[in-house]
Amino acid sequence: MKVLILGGNGMLGPWAVKAMKSRHDILLTDINEPRPGYAGDYLKLSADDVDGVVDAAEGMDVIVNLSVLRPHRQLAFDVNTMGNYAMMVAAREHRINRVITSGPHYQMAGQQYEEWDFDLNPDMPPAPGTRLYAHTKALGQEICRVFSERHGIQVITLLYYNMKHSWDLSGMEPGGPEYHQDMTPYSTAWQDCGTAVQAAVEVPAERLATRCETFFVFPDLPHRKFNNEKIKRVLGWSPRYHVEGLWNKEFRTPPSNLHEAF
Ligand SMILES: NC(=O)c1ccc[n+]([C@@H]2O[C@H](COP(=O)([O-])OP(=O)(O)OC[C@H]3O[C@@H](n4cnc5c(N)ncnc54)[C@H](O)[C@@H]3O)[C@@H](O)[C@H]2O)c1
Repeated sequence: MKVLILGGNGMLGPWAVKAMKSRHDILLTDINEPRPGYAGDYLKLSADDVDGVVDAAEGMDVIVNLSVLRPHRQLAFDVNTMGNYAMMVAAREHRINRVITSGPHYQMAGQQYEEWDFDLNPDMPPAPGTRLYAHTKALGQEICRVFSERHGIQVITLLYYNMKHSWDLSGMEPGGPEYHQDMTPYSTAWQDCGTAVQAAVEVPAERLATRCETFFVFPDLPHRKFNNEKIKRVLGWSPRYHVEGLWNKEFRTPPSNLHEAF
């Protein structure tokens, strides 16, 4: 398939590319340059540039939106909300049947759900609250839902909590937090986050109950605060790394071909 990725040069993008590059033709786009070692097609493109996204989407089978901007009020709205608007206009213009969008779990399971301690799942009534990041992402998801309803476009929303390297829980940046300081019991390994995107791109349409489905991307959690049953059952995604393994530092060695990841 031909896959257009918006905002693909951040932390998740390279893992999604790694999971899909041998199976699909990828056009990677972002406002920032790709990481060293990336040898595929790349286009500099802002996710909220409607005309630019429409042009880039010509001939594509799927659009994946991984762009995000967290702190700035105007920019967060432009990227997190209007990025999805541009993606949906492009899908409508080119009759692209499937789009995949991404965000944090709390764009659906926000503050109101924080004290619920068991079986939170992606089919609960959404309650994103008013935090800028969650709110702007939730508005973007709502835009997808409305386009989906009106134009029959299949929308798959992937919601993550926290992403970690299986071999280094201190984060991607040198000088990041100490081991386990930032490790939450809801962490998903980057590799698994990337294969979730692949699973969403590849799932046969008949497996999806409606045209607008949301999935929590979590490893198997012993406490089962967040339920990952739906993504396993519907997308056939299976996490390779589990919380116990991450917590016990079972996977300490980075792959020798780390650059190939990107
Ligand atoms: N990293 C995490 O732990 C985490 C947790 C929960 C959810 N998520 C979600 O996963 C997805 C990917 O997040 P990430 O961790 O890779 O974020 P990131 O900040 O590392 O990457 C985001 C990318 O978006 C790009 N971007 C910013 N403004 C843009 C614009 N105007 N147009 C196009 N691209 C633009 C950035 O250049 C960057 O490459 C997001 O939807 C995010 O909400 C991430």
